[in-house]
Order: sequence, then structure tokens, then C-alpha cells
Amino acid sequence: MRLLTGALLMLLGLATAWAATEPKDPRVWLQLQQDGIHDPEGPGVTVLQQPEEALKEMPPDFQGVGNQVDWVRALNQGVIQPIDNLYEATEVRRLDLDIIMPNTGEMPKVRFPHKAHTDWLDCSNCHDKIFIPKAGGNPTNMFVILAGEYCGRCHGAVSFPLTECRRCHSVAWSEPVKGGPQPLPSRVYEPVTEQVDPRLKQQGGNQ
Ligand code: HEC
Ligand code: HEC
Ligand code: HEC
Repeated sequence: MRLLTGALLMLLGLATAWAATEPKDPRVWLQLQQDGIHDPEGPGVTVLQQPEEALKEMPPDFQGVGNQVDWVRALNQGVIQPIDNLYEATEVRRLDLDIIMPNTGEMPKVRFPHKAHTDWLDCSNCHDKIFIPKAGGNPTNMFVILAGEYCGRCHGAVSFPLTECRRCHSVAWSEPVKGGPQPLPSRVYEPVTEQVDPRLKQQGGNQ
């Protein structure tokens, strides 16, 4: 009996050591039955894939933010491979052009990356109904964005939420970058790995 307990303890020790080397994914997803959207009694919920199963292999975004997946990285790393067009005749249009939007007060400047958008979206999603295609040509500001206009048409609805200030406000004032279109190649984004309360760190930019 004592031998068995010893062996069990050793196994337990090994298991804990292994678990300690694997960084634990802190993300938790609600079961469909508990999400307040699906009918917990309905026959469908037992057939549908649970979010955790679908999303846990995806590159992580912050715990608790949106659906907790960094979709731009998921696409760039090839974890998902959405098809570009259903019909051969559809022209796939992509543009690699960063626009710096500098009217941000003391917040870091906004870098709008065309590439990260046109990998998913056609130009017509934004031009000309939401944005005139002219750098500095749109009267954007945070108030109207929070009211669901301009960037707020999508961010907070289908793309990462507006509470992720630093994702958009990513260019520190200390960086020698002028407003408007930027020369190629566009900047490669580092994943934002740290959430900063903008009220505490307004001047510092993204460092
Ligand atoms: C998600 C929205 C979105 C999509 C999709 C999009 N754009 Fe833009 N585009 C913008 C924004 C925002 C600006 C900057 C507007 C500003 O500064 O007021 C801009 C600016 C431009 C400009 C002006 C650049 C300059 O030098 O002034 C051009 C040209 C342009 N876009 C072309 C395109 C083309 C071509 C596509 C498709 C391949 C496209 N855009 C897709 C949002 C978008
Ligand atoms: C989806 C992108 C996005 C996110 C997320 C975002 N902003 Fe903005 N913000 C903008 C754009 C675009 C402008 C206007 C820039 C321009 O016109 O040159 C702006 C402007 C501002 C300004 C300038 C003054 C004003 O009222 O317009 C402040 C301050 C600001 N944002 C604060 C914040 C804070 C704080 C957060 C997080 C709670 C945040 N922003 C999140 C895109 C964003
Ligand atoms: C038509 C919808 C739409 C509009 C309008 C839009 N976005 Fe986005 N944006 C997306 C989608 C979709 C993604 C990719 C999914 C995600 O990251 O949540 C994205 C991703 C991004 C990223 C992440 C880039 C990266 O490499 O991780 C930034 C930054 C961004 N948007 C800024 C802006 C700013 C600033 C504006 C307004 C000037 C804006 N977006 C307007 C749909 C939109």
C-alpha cells in the first residue's frame, strides 16, 4: 500500500512539473448553454461546437476582451485560411498602406493599417460611405467613434472593442512619424500584450 501511494505521489509530482512548464492559457469561454443567446433547452446546443473547442488553438488576445482571439495574428500565422472569393469574377483588392491619424490630443497617434483590413474586407466596405479615401479628409474623433461612427461601425461590433485604446493609438508622440500616408513597407504589428489604463499613461505612448 505504501509503495502504491509513493508511486502515485511521484506521478502526481511529475504531472505538476509538466503542468508548470506549460504556460496555462487563462482564457475561459462561456458554454453555449450559459451565454444568454442560445436556448439552453433547445436541441441545437448539443450539436453546436462549443466556443472553447473552436477558439482555444487561436492566438490569444487579452483575457475577457471580445472573443479573446487575436484574429489578425490568426490570419497571418495561417491558423485560419478563409477563402478570398466565392465567385471567380470577384476582384480581390488588397492595399498595404498605413495612415497615421494625428488628431489624438495627448493620446498616442492612431495608425490605421490598410493591410490588416483589406485582408478581410473589400475597399467598398469603407470607401466612400464611411471614409472618403483621403488622409485627413474625415472628421473623425473619439466621441463619434464611441457613438458607432467611422471606426466604431465595426470596432466594438465585429472587430476588437473600443476599450482596446492602444491597438489604435499605437504610435507614441516620441516617434518621428508625420500624419497621413506612410512610405512602404508598412509597419509589422507586434501583438499588444499589455493592457494599459490610458488615464495613467497618456503621454508615454506605446512603450
Ligand atoms: C476598414 C476601412 C477601410 C478599408 C476596407 C479601406 N480603406 Fe482606404 N482608408 C481608410 C481610412 C480610415 C483612410 C484614412 C482617412 C483619413 O485619414 O481621414 C483611408 C485612406 C485611403 C486613401 C487615401 C490615401 C492618401 O494618400 O490620402 C486611399 C487612396 C485609400 N484609402 C484606398 C483604399 C483602397 C484602394 C482600398 C481597398 C484595397 C481601401 N482603401 C480599403 C479606411 C479603409
Ligand atoms: C478603433 C480604433 C480606436 C480605438 C480602439 C480608440 N480610438 Fe481614440 N481615436 C481613434 C481615431 C481614428 C481618432 C481620431 C484621429 C484623427 O482624426 O486624427 C481618435 C481620437 C482620440 C482622441 C482625441 C480627442 C477626441 O476626442 O477625438 C482621444 C483623447 C482618444 N481618441 C482617446 C481614446 C481612448 C482613451 C481610447 C480607449 C478607451 C480610444 N481612444 C480607443 C481611434 C480609436
Ligand atoms: C468595415 C469595418 C471596419 C472599420 C470601419 C474599421 N475597422 Fe479596424 N478592423 C476591422 C477588422 C475586421 C479587423 C480584424 C479583426 C480584429 O482585429 O478584430 C480590424 C483590425 C484593426 C486593427 C488591428 C491591426 C493588427 O495588426 O492587429 C487596427 C489597429 C484597426 N483595425 C484600426 C482601425 C481604425 C483606427 C479604424 C478607423 C480609422 C478602423 N480600424 C476601422 C474592421 C474595421
